[in-house]
Amino acid sequence: MNGRSPYSGFAPGKLLLFGEHAAVFGYPAVGVSLDRGLRISVTPADGISIRLARPAGGDVAAGLSAFAAFVADTLGSPADDGPVSPAGGAITVDSDLPISSGFGSSAALCTAIAEWSLPDPQVSGHDRSAVWRRAHRLEAFFHGTPSGIDTGLSSLGGVRTFRFSTPGALPESAALSADLPALVVGAIPRERSTRDLVAGVRSRLSTEPSTVRPIFDRLGALADAAIGELAAERNHAAGLAPLVADAHHLLRDLGVSTPLTDGIIDRGVRAGALAGKLSGAGGGGAFYLVCPDAEVAARVAADLDGTLPPGSVCFHMG
Ligand code: MEV
Repeated sequence: MNGRSPYSGFAPGKLLLFGEHAAVFGYPAVGVSLDRGLRISVTPADGISIRLARPAGGDVAAGLSAFAAFVADTLGSPADDGPVSPAGGAITVDSDLPISSGFGSSAALCTAIAEWSLPDPQVSGHDRSAVWRRAHRLEAFFHGTPSGIDTGLSSLGGVRTFRFSTPGALPESAALSADLPALVVGAIPRERSTRDLVAGVRSRLSTEPSTVRPIFDRLGALADAAIGELAAERNHAAGLAPLVADAHHLLRDLGVSTPLTDGIIDRGVRAGALAGKLSGAGGGGAFYLVCPDAEVAARVAADLDGTLPPGSVCFHMG
């Protein structure tokens, strides 16, 4: 049991490549865990408290104190995700992901806390599904109906596919040994929360099913095509680019992009990227651009960097 002695643990953030929003309604998705993430340090305490190592705005602090109460309730109620830790802890969170940016900071927080709260063999053993199941229960705090793909990427790591066969259950996830093409990855401050964006899409699905359902069908088909592309042994830049461009246009039609994100993607393409899309829930937040090679990616990242609003990040990988 980790809860009774000082503890420190890391959980990675994620970049969703394809399938955001549609995954909430059972369509496939694919993404990759990031090198960046979030570290928690826990000292034994009565009850659960959560604070940031580096100060952030008042909303974040208030959100974390409500989340701490949710964690205490969730860990205190029996479920099928392994033994419950009765121990309390004062949790300090240090993140090199911008918070609430679309890089999965909340999923990483849930994963790190799930790891801390589970007995050691379930964490260090090869079955990471107990960590994922518990992180998924905790993520419900952030938007009520998580698909499980963000916590899956943080808990299991690597490039992973997600497919849903049982409504309401976690998806099946498989690792892909694909090398991703050179990517420029960034995030701008969010204009809307994941909760609002997911709720907005759900409400549009119920009021305009004949518009929204075909968008989901096409997003699902693009995720499938991207999984097929990534499973092939070749450089994936040219194969992924048209899928990335189509997926971004569909997400824009779904109403989850912003003019600023659209403008960044257009600028990145003018600077040499093949295509780009938002990543995650949208409303600003994370995006990525596929580039023909690492040299172009470095150039595109440098071109974008100076133009992004304060509080943004931009880097290249691959
Ligand atoms: C958020 O990173 C991804 C969404 O699809 C929500 C989810 O899958 O839980 C928007």
